[in-house]
Amino acid sequence: MSFDLVLFGGTGDLAWRKLLPALAQAYRHGSLPQGGRIIGVARDSLTDDEYRALIRSRFEGVEDDKQPTGEEFERFAQLLHYQRMDLTQPDDYQQLKSRLAERNADVVVMYLATAPQLFTVACEQLGAAGLATPQTRVVLEKPLGHDLQSNRAINAAVRQVFDEGQIFRIDHYLGKPSVQNLLALRFGNALFEPWWRRETIASIEITIAEQLGVEARGAFYDGTGALRDMVQNHALQLLCAIAMEPPINAHADAIRDEKLKVLRSLSPWTPTTLAQDVVRGQYAAGSLAGQRVPGYQGEDGVAPGSHTETFVALRTQIANWRWAGVPFYIRTGKRLAAREAHIAIHLRPTPHAIYPTPLVCGANRLVIHLQPRDGLALHLFAAASETRGAQALAEAPGLTPVQLDLDFEQRFGSRRVGAYERLLLDVIAGRLNLFVRADEQEAAWRWVEPIMQSWQEQDARGEGPRLYAAGTWGPGAASALVARDGNTWIEEC
Ligand code: BG6
Repeated sequence: MSFDLVLFGGTGDLAWRKLLPALAQAYRHGSLPQGGRIIGVARDSLTDDEYRALIRSRFEGVEDDKQPTGEEFERFAQLLHYQRMDLTQPDDYQQLKSRLAERNADVVVMYLATAPQLFTVACEQLGAAGLATPQTRVVLEKPLGHDLQSNRAINAAVRQVFDEGQIFRIDHYLGKPSVQNLLALRFGNALFEPWWRRETIASIEITIAEQLGVEARGAFYDGTGALRDMVQNHALQLLCAIAMEPPINAHADAIRDEKLKVLRSLSPWTPTTLAQDVVRGQYAAGSLAGQRVPGYQGEDGVAPGSHTETFVALRTQIANWRWAGVPFYIRTGKRLAAREAHIAIHLRPTPHAIYPTPLVCGANRLVIHLQPRDGLALHLFAAASETRGAQALAEAPGLTPVQLDLDFEQRFGSRRVGAYERLLLDVIAGRLNLFVRADEQEAAWRWVEPIMQSWQEQDARGEGPRLYAAGTWGPGAASALVARDGNTWIEEC
């Protein structure tokens, strides 16, 4: 199968940090179909060779063995081509068309790694130029809009030109091996299903913590914030993977139907829950790994006095039979104490205690680690028969916490397919399972909108986000949020 992958935004951050390294990895391991072309598109005037040299220099500036260098890069670079385009200019699409007609590939992927404002015009122009053929697939990077209305407008414009089956909406968290393993764990084993419910599970925590700040994306981030950047998509997709009912098969729509039901069952916000169950934070200066780092307000591109949140913690519930009454906590932020993403499933205590239960927190839970390590750990109580001597005679063995650990990297080796690599291969192969359907996105926007509105009201009253020092776990109010239910975030115990 031959393919052409047209990478709009071909000189941008996402292209050289994530997409091209992922394609290079796939190439290195022979997973890319032979005879493919990757055509970078941007506004600069570059030849193919100049584009290759640009990407080579970008790769060389990054310490990461995913980026090929030397001869390996030269081999990969033969796939790279370049097309100068202004996405608003119809003539430029005709030039792209001639370029694509050179070889008439079996699959043509239009990857829009651009600002979302360009999605509509790019799709319209692709359609007008006759570039939306049955061979074409379009990939849309998040964020798809900045609220429900803009999201709907983009989806409507894209669907004027492409069928839903040709539209690949990326949420790269769905490509992470640990998320696929979560689904395999739940739906490939009968063991979990009987206790995957309110009777056994006390609460669920989803944490996506980053140490990075906003890097060079200050201006973009300042207009976005953590709710739109991480919660509306990545965190809610993780929540769906945990909470969804078993789908009737592994096809894309069966999976998406179940995720949609979860999103529609999220408890609607009320003025009380908005006030009590959502924490908005922003990092102030602090220190990370022994280095002083500036506060958000001191980052390039951030407007003076900005109220944009870099941290969100919230508590919600899912109103259905399986989950009624179980709190789901979501927490994400930048410049936190560690880079750490996990889902912690806290189990209820035994209904009747025959052992004196030690006062430890940390046992009695299943933790799915997403990053930096990727695996799962079941924390249980076992009988501690370690005591010897007079104490052994005096006391029956008590309970002690132990851990059953599965490290997927060790188990499956380091040559596992990374998130973007997985997703790009799926686009080329036409597999939609790990992509988000329009109605899922709309349901997620509909649910986060009241939070955005309540923050606007707070802003109007002069109430901004709560500040937290960089290098900490966020505002104290986030701990108080879970403490109200008698819980703690897992790094707190
Ligand atoms: C992106 C966000 O979608 O996800 C970034 O725009 C964030 O702000 C990134 O840093 C996190 O992804 P990962 O895979 O590094 O956890």
